[in-house]
Amino acid sequence: MKTASMEPIEMAEKILSSRKYRNLNIPPETVVDLISRALDHGLKPDKAVDDAREKLHNIVAPYLGDPDYADAMQELSQISVFPNNRDLKEFSLKMLQSHASTKERIPVMDEFYSRLFEVTGNPSSLLDLACAMQPFAHPWMRLPTDCDYYAYDLHKPRVDLINLFFQSAGVKGRAYYGDILLQPPQFKADMAFFFKEAHRFDQRQKGCNRNFWLALDVRWLVVSLPAANLTGRFDLADRQRRLVTGTLDGLDWPVTEILTGNELVFCIRKHND
Ligand SMILES: C[S@@+](CC[C@H](N)C(=O)[O-])C[C@H]1O[C@@H](n2cnc3c(N)ncnc32)[C@H](O)[C@@H]1O
Repeated sequence: MKTASMEPIEMAEKILSSRKYRNLNIPPETVVDLISRALDHGLKPDKAVDDAREKLHNIVAPYLGDPDYADAMQELSQISVFPNNRDLKEFSLKMLQSHASTKERIPVMDEFYSRLFEVTGNPSSLLDLACAMQPFAHPWMRLPTDCDYYAYDLHKPRVDLINLFFQSAGVKGRAYYGDILLQPPQFKADMAFFFKEAHRFDQRQKGCNRNFWLALDVRWLVVSLPAANLTGRFDLADRQRRLVTGTLDGLDWPVTEILTGNELVFCIRKHND
């Protein structure tokens, strides 16, 4: 690829038209941002593209798993409205199992949400940031029926599937497609979930969590991070605590920490109003 005379958008299009990303509709501005930052750091165009490819792989994380989106869309469009809770949970579990982040939460899912809501109280509106398949855990969250649920992801097939699921499951909410680091959600909400992603944000752009967390207009920001790596062999707890305390340095936001399953959950009280 001759990248020397190309603009970042043209370099980004090369990456996005590859077989790996073609069907995912990743926002081009995400890749332009990765390439522009690499160029700003002094990398030559070829190296900047390599760096962006590596970072994009970590952002999209295809190794964490996916359902067959076309099949799942088809199944949902035939269901239209789930006839009962058992069918709803059966479909949801299948979706949760398809992605490593939600799969490892399944054994503790019944207590996971109730333990964190014991600290925060039940939310009346919720942002699920970098949600992946987590919205399919809605039947286990026991949210108030009028709670608005806004989910965000940059993976278009996931966002489309979640929107169809919300309709069939009667969830009062919507999934939005876009890069939340470049455009943090502007909604004022009671609570935001930001699960198992802050460490990846930091790998994408060192220190970026601070401005991102500051930009969110929420009373509670609930951040979770893996307490061990996917093989379960490396204890990551101290590293994750350093990431959270470093991000909050000098901010007077009280934190309550919970350990549930393989997840450290930091309930951060942002606003008192
Ligand atoms: C590790 S998964 C998150 C798992 C999920 N929050 C959970 O705990 O079950 C990462 C997800 O974040 C999405 N993502 C990564 N960076 C993003 C960004 N800047 N904006 C929106 N979504 C993003 C990816 O597409 C992927 O679906």
